[in-house]
Amino acid sequence: MKILLLGSGGREHALAWKIAQSEKCEKLFIAPGNAGTANAGENIAIKADDFEAIKQFCVKEHIDMVVVGPEDPLVKGIYDDLKADERTKAIPVIGPSKQGAVLEGSKDFAKAFMLRHNIPTARYATFDGEHVEDGIAFLETLEAPYVLKADGLCAGKGVLILPTLDEAKKELREMLGGMFGNASSRVVIEEFLSGIECSVFVLTDGNHYKILPEAKDYKRIGEHDTGLNTGGMGSVTPVPFATKEWMQKVEDRIIRPTVDGLKSEQIDYKGFIFFGLINVKGEPMVIEYNCRMGDPETESVMLRLKSDIVDLFEGVAKGDLNQREIVFDERAAVCVMLVSGGYPQAYQKGYPISGIDQVEGSIVFHSGTVLKDGQVVTAGGRVIAVSSYGKDKAEALQKSFIEAQKIQFTDKYFRRDIGADL
Ligand code: AMP
Ligand code: GLY
Repeated sequence: MKILLLGSGGREHALAWKIAQSEKCEKLFIAPGNAGTANAGENIAIKADDFEAIKQFCVKEHIDMVVVGPEDPLVKGIYDDLKADERTKAIPVIGPSKQGAVLEGSKDFAKAFMLRHNIPTARYATFDGEHVEDGIAFLETLEAPYVLKADGLCAGKGVLILPTLDEAKKELREMLGGMFGNASSRVVIEEFLSGIECSVFVLTDGNHYKILPEAKDYKRIGEHDTGLNTGGMGSVTPVPFATKEWMQKVEDRIIRPTVDGLKSEQIDYKGFIFFGLINVKGEPMVIEYNCRMGDPETESVMLRLKSDIVDLFEGVAKGDLNQREIVFDERAAVCVMLVSGGYPQAYQKGYPISGIDQVEGSIVFHSGTVLKDGQVVTAGGRVIAVSSYGKDKAEALQKSFIEAQKIQFTDKYFRRDIGADL
């Protein structure tokens, strides 16, 4: 099979690494990819949201499957666009339709969907700019802290958690006044949930589903979860509190109702569903849905997937995912993200990266890198994920921390407390 993978981050490098191991994959292209994905397949200079160029490439290269890494092309409707074109309509796409991607693209839609299907989530209400005073009144019925979410996509910046009612009122007015542009023209206000978060991933063909290993990610820039939010500074799988019993609750109360709900609402969904969960006194609740795999969770989860991922994708495409086998590695897997100094605020790009070839026993996934005149240089906030196996989390982390020292670039930073809270 000739496969085209869209995206350019660490998640895509990890997916490319896994896809390239499949005997069913004859040729892998990554658009646009990064300096690391070039080792797993062939990078092509097409942006992940340039639909016309993607379609032309699919035709020219006789692509048999398109795998979508990031949410952006999905929310913009890559699935529907390929299906609507005579030239590409027969090519299976791993990723939901535009309507399915709304689970991630609109927080209000996701909350209303959960309410319709009785899926446990925080109590909420949604307000637009014409109902600011109603929003203020709703805030007054809640207790601190206050959670405000821009309805639309904001690259992970659209959620505010405010300690006082006064601040919440002020921010609500600003959000509805256009703080995040159109994305915050509607704001979801919800009850604050207290607990530890966990990411659960499912691959679905629209009828059947397979649950992948769960993971925890570390969002804050500073150790002990301090400072600004980032795209993710590391991840760990398995998650100790996600016991068999807990995962059974997740499957019965959250996963199955979601897959069945999508089907009953005739939403075309063939791809990954990412459940952002929180464990509230032993009970799983949904914080958010994403229509793709997590980053940096993929950089540890892929290590634990023993099965052929292309075989699973084929099951998604053919609608017989229930006939396919999914087997996990019992070892722990972690990833530690090396980031540019200054991230998630302003940072420099273009610094040469050395030492990648010195790494032994860990797997290096590139996140924000490019090749410039034959030299790998930094090209993003999150630069490289150092992923490792271990008999347990501690062993895996120790490996990643040791190997992380070998990779050098100016102002490199990483958190040394990944996994320490579990
Ligand atoms: P989201 O973009 O919806 O994942 O929200 C970003 C982060 O805000 C989540 O990962 C949580 O840490 C936090 N968060 C969102 N909603 C809630 C909530 N209802 N209660 C507590 N924390 C929340
Ligand atoms: N790790 C969280 C995300 O991918 O959104």
